Amino acid sequence: MPALPYDWSAKEACDAYEKTWEISRREVHYGWLSPGENTLRLLEDVPERSKALDVGCGMGENIVALHRLKLDAYGLDLSSYMVRKARRTLREEGMESKSYGLRKRVRQCDARAFASEFRTKFDVVLAVYSLEFFKDIQEFRKAISEITKGMVGGGTFVLCISHPTTHPDYPRIKNETELVGTSSVPLLMYSIRDVVQTLCEEKLVVERVIEQQTRRPSRLTYEEAGQFPYHFREGKNPFSPLFDDLNDKNPHTLIYRTRKES
Ligand SMILES: C[S@@+](CC[C@H](N)C(=O)[O-])C[C@H]1O[C@@H](n2cnc3c(N)ncnc32)[C@H](O)[C@@H]1O
Repeated sequence: MPALPYDWSAKEACDAYEKTWEISRREVHYGWLSPGENTLRLLEDVPERSKALDVGCGMGENIVALHRLKLDAYGLDLSSYMVRKARRTLREEGMESKSYGLRKRVRQCDARAFASEFRTKFDVVLAVYSLEFFKDIQEFRKAISEITKGMVGGGTFVLCISHPTTHPDYPRIKNETELVGTSSVPLLMYSIRDVVQTLCEEKLVVERVIEQQTRRPSRLTYEEAGQFPYHFREGKNPFSPLFDDLNDKNPHTLIYRTRKES
């Protein structure tokens, strides 16, 4: 995510996110300007009808994309505005039915306390840019612990987070986890060590790590960006040329595919 913190409890922030980003409903995405599932194949061994959860689902595109993979897909988000947008997305896709009630499918809850909300355990959990809005590493640990509690043994968890080296403060924070937002609108930049340690402590085996880099994002045209499932809307490229320099040198997104120990 770009460096600015977002206040997800505010309607304006959620609307601004929706106005900036155009996200595919056809292919599972793993972050802005990153190849999606058709290329990365992080879920290719997941059997049809497996239960999948998108944590911090935003506008719900990945719920639709998981459903298209023939998975039994759910989502959760802390923001009431995002929950409304996600339910609207599912409704637009004709996914609402008696056996597929949207209130049940998309729930408003916190990544740190959701396992008791769902009376099921998940085979697949995704979290795309949704676990960075914490004040400290303990809150992140709580979310990861809750996610593993809500998963079956052998299940897959894919975590996509901002790559610390692309944050403008990186030379100062020197790969230490640090709050780069504010206490009221937090945004946490994680050191790679803290993330890997947390995953391992929660019995998640890291199977793949992908570092996604996009060169000169401010100069990308809408057509070029459109090859990725998560890209900016036409005329809404949010990247300033200042960001190009960082992006030319460093990857912007870290994607971990992990498996819960059986
Ligand atoms: C950058 S958006 C990403 C949305 C979506 N995953 C996507 O890829 O478009 C971050 C989302 O995480 C949600 N979020 C932030 N903190 C959360 C938490 N503690 N629990 C659940 N959702 C959270 C926000 O409300 C927001 O919808």
